[in-house]
Amino acid sequence: MKVSTGIRGLDKVLDGGIPQGSAIVLEGAPGTGKTTLGMQFLYKGIVDHNEPGIFFTFEEFPDQIYEDMESYGWDLKDLERKNRLRVIGISPDIFLDQMTSKDGLFEQLVREIDCRRIVIDSISLFEYLPDKTGENGRSLLYTLRNIVRKFGLTSLFIQELSSLDRRKIPFEHFIADGVIRLSLKEHMNIFRKRTLEVTKMRGTKINEGEHIYQITDKGIYLLLASQIVTDKYISDQNEKIKTGIPELDNLLGGGMAKGAVYMLDTNSKANYRHIVGAIYAERVKAGNRILSLLSSTQTVTELKALMDLYGIDIDQLAREKRLYFIEHYNRPFPAGWEGSVFHVQGMENKDYDRFLWEKCKGLVKECKENHKDWFAYYDLSTIFNERGAEYVLRSFAKETAFARSFGMTVLVLCNFKEVGEQAASFLERTSNGVFKTWVDGSYQYLQVTKSPDGQISKPYLLESIGQKPYIRLV
Ligand SMILES: Nc1ncnc2c1ncn2[C@@H]1O[C@H](COP(=O)(O)OP(=O)(O)OP(=O)(O)O)[C@@H](O)[C@H]1O
Ligand SMILES: [Mg+2]
Repeated sequence: MKVSTGIRGLDKVLDGGIPQGSAIVLEGAPGTGKTTLGMQFLYKGIVDHNEPGIFFTFEEFPDQIYEDMESYGWDLKDLERKNRLRVIGISPDIFLDQMTSKDGLFEQLVREIDCRRIVIDSISLFEYLPDKTGENGRSLLYTLRNIVRKFGLTSLFIQELSSLDRRKIPFEHFIADGVIRLSLKEHMNIFRKRTLEVTKMRGTKINEGEHIYQITDKGIYLLLASQIVTDKYISDQNEKIKTGIPELDNLLGGGMAKGAVYMLDTNSKANYRHIVGAIYAERVKAGNRILSLLSSTQTVTELKALMDLYGIDIDQLAREKRLYFIEHYNRPFPAGWEGSVFHVQGMENKDYDRFLWEKCKGLVKECKENHKDWFAYYDLSTIFNERGAEYVLRSFAKETAFARSFGMTVLVLCNFKEVGEQAASFLERTSNGVFKTWVDGSYQYLQVTKSPDGQISKPYLLESIGQKPYIRLV
């Protein structure tokens, strides 16, 4: 069972919350918000989940804590009067005595209020107790953990962390069921950003990454690293269509948004064929009309072989006028495809523009009237090379708006490095979604860095598999 932490964003990081009865180390440098997080965990536990709690403080007087926490609007005294909270100021040695003795103060307190959660602020002080250093200190922590487990208490052990601290993994991390770290980092020279990272949590999936939080007048508020601003208009309006790669569909909340423009940014070493192949094949199977613009290095023969792997006969599709090509290189196409290929080599930009508007718009419109959806796959490097960067920057936004207005889903292949930073940032901004794939060492990665519903992903490894769709995200 999961216990809500009282911080919505943190519950999401922990896939629902902390497993009930766990002992968690909450560590951070001075002033990072450890006491606040600890108290929020207790306060919300009481108010929202009816789980009474005890806060043990070795460092401050309870009065100071009441006062500090008032700034978040938490009336702790009221909860104490109702016997649902205890704030206990105690010295570490007495605390340990009472905790380890049968029917001591600790056990009595737990019984008295039917305690479910505790916070100890902070275990760092144990280190300064005589004969509790080294080995003794370790077995002490072990004992503590076992006691809170015995009572089924979900507990936070706060620990000070100074920048001078140990280089190696602290012993506490091995014993604890989980570790949450708060940090204060430099941000844009003069600012600091507060980040939270869960480095360990037994029995739960962790949403990895450094998540930024703010201390607000209602306590700690955390934003997931994978959640940026939602493109509400697109994500609400559009149905989701499958990519043919199940894990990618999951990352995209069900699939690509219909009528949205996605950019696939590849570096030169990355093999994007199966990413494109899977999406392309899926769209064909869904009955979409397809418009393709292949790069100089990708031939129709190659596309044919690729689609064969997915059980798709593009010869037939072309003859049935379900597949169209815009061709810049005057390459030969199989017989019977005549009506499906538009040769645009040598065409001036302004004529090409007119061709796109008149010919393609006509086609797309006609299909729309017959309730057929379109999918376009095109290689943007070809347009850069053949029509120039200036043309791309001028026409890309217009073309994407056109596609969107007709509900045409678009996958654009591009190499951001090759087109330069400025063009890349423009393209990224203009697209509704961005997938990046790259090779690092002997591994290939795929990451969603932009999507209409604001969801971005961590980098996933791409594994080749023997059956369709021939790739898997790990
Ligand atoms: N209402 C509030 N709004 C915004 N920030 C606040 C508010 N109340 C307190 N803070 C900030 O929260 C910060 C940290 O609080 P907290 O005492 O929880 O940190 P801590 O990690 O326990 O620190 P220490 O190591 O000193 O015990 C304080 O520096 C204070 O500036
Ligand atoms: Mg504190």
